[in-house]
Amino acid sequence: MNLSYEQLVERINCWNHAYYVLDNPLVSDAEYDHAFRALLALETENPDLVSPESPSQRIGAAPIAEFKKVEHGVKMLSLANAFSLEETTDFFEKAARELDVDLASLALFSEPKLDGLAITIHYHHGLFSYAATRGDGAVGEDVTHNIKTIKSVPLKLNTDTPPEKLEVRGEVFMPKAAFARLNQLAKQQNSKVFVNPRNAAAGTVRQMNPQIAAKRDLQFIPYSVGEYQGEREFTRHSEMIDYLISLGFRRNPHCYAFLGSFEAFAENYQRMESLRDSLPMEIDGIVYKIDDLATQAALGFIARSPKWAVARKFPAQQAITQLLGVDFQVGRTGVLTPVARLEPVFVAGVTVSNATLHNMDEINRLGLCIGDSVDIQRAGDVIPKVAKVAEQGEDRQPIVMPTRCPVCDSPVIRIEGQAAFRCTGGLICAAQGAERIEHYASRNCMNIVNLGTKLIELLYSKGIIHTIADIYKLKLDDIASLDGLGEKSAQNVLDSIEASKATKLRTFLAALGIPEVGEGGSKNVAQYFKNLPAIQAASFEDLMQVPDVGPVTAKSIVDFFQDARNQAIVADIINAGVNWVDEQHEPTQAQSLAGQTWVLTGTMSMPRHEAKALLESLGAKVSGSVSKKTDCVVAGAEAGSKLAKAEELGVRVIDEATFLAELNG
Ligand code: IVH
Repeated sequence: MNLSYEQLVERINCWNHAYYVLDNPLVSDAEYDHAFRALLALETENPDLVSPESPSQRIGAAPIAEFKKVEHGVKMLSLANAFSLEETTDFFEKAARELDVDLASLALFSEPKLDGLAITIHYHHGLFSYAATRGDGAVGEDVTHNIKTIKSVPLKLNTDTPPEKLEVRGEVFMPKAAFARLNQLAKQQNSKVFVNPRNAAAGTVRQMNPQIAAKRDLQFIPYSVGEYQGEREFTRHSEMIDYLISLGFRRNPHCYAFLGSFEAFAENYQRMESLRDSLPMEIDGIVYKIDDLATQAALGFIARSPKWAVARKFPAQQAITQLLGVDFQVGRTGVLTPVARLEPVFVAGVTVSNATLHNMDEINRLGLCIGDSVDIQRAGDVIPKVAKVAEQGEDRQPIVMPTRCPVCDSPVIRIEGQAAFRCTGGLICAAQGAERIEHYASRNCMNIVNLGTKLIELLYSKGIIHTIADIYKLKLDDIASLDGLGEKSAQNVLDSIEASKATKLRTFLAALGIPEVGEGGSKNVAQYFKNLPAIQAASFEDLMQVPDVGPVTAKSIVDFFQDARNQAIVADIINAGVNWVDEQHEPTQAQSLAGQTWVLTGTMSMPRHEAKALLESLGAKVSGSVSKKTDCVVAGAEAGSKLAKAEELGVRVIDEATFLAELNG
């Protein structure tokens, strides 16, 4: 068998389509693997041959560094919900009235409501171009790298006359079997299990590494068209779907066409409900659409959803089981959440052995005691909850909030005016530790880019870091000796810790994770007091003067800075070199260096971090290396290779005195 490169690509794509779209394998795994290896060999030998539609192009892309924003040319809408037959019928009665026709004359189309996430895929001249999430409907995130790995998404549309532009919208989801396999593997490897297939699908699409997505068996099924520039004209939605199927997409199983009536909705609902468990994917309802596209256009939209389609949701599923006990989990901010420990029970496709009880008020409202039989509800996507006491237990025990933290033994207090209780262990409580460090290092806080959640958890579990101050004590060996990390990545971590030291007061304050003090609160407090010593010394009354700061926040800040352990941690961090320009030094006029890139080199009399903060406060980016894009280099004494590079590239170079004179001028 001597196939040309193009023939080989076409053959494998055809097998893929048969396997992943039609569920109808044409060849054995061995034959498939053989052909795929032959393709890879050809491509390695002749890199010029590689075509964008080659099945090799699904995998192998490098992880992305950040999600790019994508503006949707046509808004991505949501659907209104209906929870009963009456609501469903009413929805279309209303549409019929507006159109001045009878309900019975409306041609409807029903589709299973797939429980995943909405994705849009753009094809240009028949070739996959890019894919994005819905986001807020107007702007989503570019997730091309992951969507390309989904085998039921064609890389090339199956037609000789492709439309110039076609935007295919649909649902990405994880079939039930793939979800079960993924969680089984996660359990074996002691890694994170997903609550349900929808979270697994969303988590997979919204991560950076396409190698991970490629391993996870996601599927895509289209349900509408966004932008379209092509020759064909369509009169019905179902016709458009047929066209998409002919182009190589997977069909949503069990779609029906019928005329509007209460009886037809009832019959359709019963049929779908009885099919639900036997479907290979989770569905959380049925979508009813008016099939005629001109009628859709005549009705248009209201708010964020069309007036021609509605989602009839399945009710939450429930089961009865026994409450065996209540655990108290301590979260990042120290809040203790009661969690019901249950006799395991199967609800809506998963085994449930825990359920959140939210807080003590909720427990009182339910009148719940340990030993009771309880009614558990699971509404498709959300964490299971205890809906009510089904029957009181014979030997029932009251549920009591512990007086000391189950993790660090610090006293537990009730937060004034709230239902929540909190551990007072602050920065020393181990339950709060890893999460507090993660919060501190996260993008919106200190933005220590190479110190991610996984690494923090590893360092924390090995006892290498206990508090946020320990970040600055990390040595190369502490990190390099960890599994899977070498010296180079370890150095990157240290570099990004160093780079994060120049910050803003408001950012540092938010990074501390003081209960009730988020980004907005931190900004207000920082702007009001201008510097940290003033905040540390502020009384409850002083804090109450800050705009938008109420008694709960004020007390939380006072408590935090009065605790000697917190004071020590903050002092350690500042001694380690974390710095900012106090708020009053911030420029009030426009940022004069916005968009520019500056480089500092050599020895300066002003500390390097201060010079950097000054430049950043004027809007400049301060980079560690000189390139053609550098706008200016400030060269101190004994400047070396960076100065030479700047001269070579003809980049502007100034000395420290000129630098200061210019900034002051
Ligand atoms: S149509 C303008 N059809 O449900 C209408 N949506 O709650 C666009 N969904 O964002 C949506 N299956 O992610 C449509 N067969 C189906 C669907 C479906 C699942 C999702 C979709 C949408 C959400 C709305």
